Amino acid sequence: MAEHLYTEHPALYDAIQSEWDYDRDVSFVLETLDRYGIAADQMLEVGCGTGEHTCRFKRAGLDVTGIDKYDGMLDLARSKCDADFHKASLPDTSAPGMYDVVVAIRGVINHLQPDALAPTIETLADRLRNNGLLIFDNSPLPTEGNEPALDVGTTREGQYVRVAHHVPTGSGTLEWRAVTYTPTGECFVNSREMTPFDDATIGATLETSGLGFEIHEGYGTGDSRTVFVASRN
Ligand SMILES: C[S@@+](CC[C@H](N)C(=O)[O-])C[C@H]1O[C@@H](n2cnc3c(N)ncnc32)[C@H](O)[C@@H]1O
Repeated sequence: MAEHLYTEHPALYDAIQSEWDYDRDVSFVLETLDRYGIAADQMLEVGCGTGEHTCRFKRAGLDVTGIDKYDGMLDLARSKCDADFHKASLPDTSAPGMYDVVVAIRGVINHLQPDALAPTIETLADRLRNNGLLIFDNSPLPTEGNEPALDVGTTREGQYVRVAHHVPTGSGTLEWRAVTYTPTGECFVNSREMTPFDDATIGATLETSGLGFEIHEGYGTGDSRTVFVASRN
């Protein structure tokens, strides 16, 4: 597997995702904390990427620790706000301390191998203070794979062109393969393993870890992910 988007082209990641409704996701989390009556102070955000959610949470008054597997993403995140950013790869968080809320937003969980789900949920649950919430989503992925599709987009720097598809590996995961031409004419190949978890498996894993949960259809309008809001029973 060759992960070049997250490692070498984080700014392109941001450009491709520039239409993403980060505010919607953040509002969902803040409203959920409100609904549970949690005056949250400290947040752990895993898979924080380039920090778009992180910096919004920070501006909303939270003390945020963001962790991600890749320096490329973290370096860009650090240039945006002064949250506490660390490199760590789930299921390890390398994040000491306890948090009022732990979030993993936008398919972070789907970047895990199937057998890493349970240890990751255990690790994240262990970082929760009493009454703390674990909020994360499960992205819908094409379990059977799909055909290569063309994506042409415009960034501030110019046009990018990407052909991407998912290929089943035969071991319960998908390989996401992409060829991208960047606005500067560079071409790179990306290959990443993703796991199409089903919601029932995630629910059962949460229960095994002693977590109760509620399920939401997305963080808001136009979002097709399943969002889990979990807490210690
Ligand atoms: C689709 S991106 C989402 C990033 C960010 N949350 C957002 O919404 O823009 C998935 C993120 O998960 C990170 N990631 C993937 N595997 C990880 C792991 N094992 N541990 C920590 N972060 C991981 C990637 O580096 C990437 O930043």
